[in-house]
Amino acid sequence: MRKFSQFIQQTSFTKAEIVELLKASDNDLEHLFAVANEVKKSHVGAKVYFRGLVEFSNVCSKDCYYCGIRKSNRNVRRYNLSDEEILNAARFACENNYGSLVLQSGELENDAFTLRIENLLKQIKKISGGALGITLSLGEQSSDVYKRWFDAGAHRYLLRIETSNRELYQKLHPGNHSFEKRMACLNDLQRIGYQTGTGVMIGLPFQTIDDLADDLLFMQHFNIDMVGMGPYIEHEETPLYELRNVLWPIGERFITALKMIAVLRIMMKDINIASATALQAIDPLGREKGVRAGANVIMPNITPGMYRNDYALYQNKPCTDEEPLQCKVCLDARLSLSDSEIGYGEWGDSKHFFRRNQK
Ligand code: 5AD
Ligand code: FES
Repeated sequence: MRKFSQFIQQTSFTKAEIVELLKASDNDLEHLFAVANEVKKSHVGAKVYFRGLVEFSNVCSKDCYYCGIRKSNRNVRRYNLSDEEILNAARFACENNYGSLVLQSGELENDAFTLRIENLLKQIKKISGGALGITLSLGEQSSDVYKRWFDAGAHRYLLRIETSNRELYQKLHPGNHSFEKRMACLNDLQRIGYQTGTGVMIGLPFQTIDDLADDLLFMQHFNIDMVGMGPYIEHEETPLYELRNVLWPIGERFITALKMIAVLRIMMKDINIASATALQAIDPLGREKGVRAGANVIMPNITPGMYRNDYALYQNKPCTDEEPLQCKVCLDARLSLSDSEIGYGEWGDSKHFFRRNQK
């Protein structure tokens, strides 16, 4: 077996090597994080880019077994921000020099929703004078809809594959959700010209380290531009909660999520990697630790405070009692403590996207 220190010089890894890296502990683990952080600095720089996250509605037509805002959860108070509230969030992002905005909501597929987003995109472009980058995270849609939104000004899209293991995917979703559809959507997004982001949950019931290694290989093979992945956190009002006794301990899920970030950074040196908010649901310094393990994007919540408690995908979601400005002040302080500069006023696009399109 080769020495661990040799592994981390490589760019391509066999599955067995990835598994070995994901099992790193003690000194090897510190070494892994340090190398990933170096790779980040030399390929995408030391800056952390902000994407102001607007969770504008928790109305959802899907019923994923892990998600707190699934359609069948009757205990959720459903909300839908007005267009004006969304535009105000965009103004906040502009005024505070966040380079970009993410519009996220529960999943809806209908004409009224398509049109609403299309209009919002045009208005956000207008009020920011084109200065604000816009990412969408609105789930599975037809390729026509993706194209309309792209033409209206969105240029990045996040759609997590959740797990690249088809059988596991099926176990986590009702019969009418399909892995093939998810894959087709990712292909559409990439073909249309979006900077395409995906991601997985880490520590799902039945998930193995082998699955996680396959997830990283999937991302590399698909040539993604951005990734957001974080630990799975059980939610009491979901069917998957029944399986809470078979889960890895929460600390294990957390550390494995950090290792996933670090290994992917070494494999795909110039992509954008978000430090998932779910990391901070487990550890108060979770997002900073994600940055230290190789992430370069943070998505501060800029949803008006009064709605935040109702967008609980998982338990212990951080920042639910804060207002947008409090999160800004907090993150400024946190990141300066963790020795990272914030890329204010910059889009911080995925370098990988441009390199992939030059070929
Ligand atoms: N734990 C962690 N992440 C979750 N998500 C949904 N439910 C949970 C949960 N219980 C993630 C999914 C989804 C993203 C918006 O939130 O990966 O794609
Ligand atoms: Fe929201 Fe710290 S980032 S309170």
